[in-house]
Amino acid sequence: MRFIQDPEHTPGMGMGRGRGQGMMGSGMGHAGDKDHMIDMDTIHALFDNVKSIKRTVRKRPDGFESITESSDQKVASMLQGHVMAMKSRLEKGMLIRRGDPLFRALFENADKITVEVKTTPNGIRVIEMSKDPYVIKLLHLHSEAVSGFVKDGPRGMAKMHPVPPPPKETRPQPKPKTGR
Ligand code: HEM
Repeated sequence: MRFIQDPEHTPGMGMGRGRGQGMMGSGMGHAGDKDHMIDMDTIHALFDNVKSIKRTVRKRPDGFESITESSDQKVASMLQGHVMAMKSRLEKGMLIRRGDPLFRALFENADKITVEVKTTPNGIRVIEMSKDPYVIKLLHLHSEAVSGFVKDGPRGMAKMHPVPPPPKETRPQPKPKTGR
């Protein structure tokens, strides 16, 4: 299992300053994660604009391919920015939405996920793949979670996404008894 930074639990060393912006707002409590506030702002704006978003997902045996686009150019740019930012978070292990089992599991398995992104004129096309059968299940669930966000809008924000238990061999094994 890879090490995950959990900036949402890092004790305070002041507030993060995100991508050239100021220091006010939800940076508090996310020390060490200077982009958290900006990433959450984009996520809230996406939730607020789901009516202009169209999404298609094609599941593949090794993952999924999605196209997510908006008729509104500002929302299309936000989608592109969000996916690039989340791809970078996955690569760096910068956990976000730690209370949601699905997001936690995705970050725990990020080293087994290949993400390919390509912008389209109105949004973004994403292919996510894995060779690990459990991680492929997580990818399928994630693609459904994002489709749920688009369908539900802001009321979908509070919804948590359970995951199936990981296969036995990846669970920590009990220590062998010493025989005394
Ligand atoms: C609850 C807040 C959200 C969080 C924490 C979040 C986080 C993430 C993360 C970590 C990824 C990369 C992981 C992966 O692709 O497997 C991702 C991908 C993506 N997110 Fe979000 N996201 C949120 C809400 C949204 C919303 C509201 C939208 C659009 C309305 C959206 C659209 C996408 C898209 C299009 C992808 C690319 C993968 C796909 O097409 O399924 N996300 N998000």
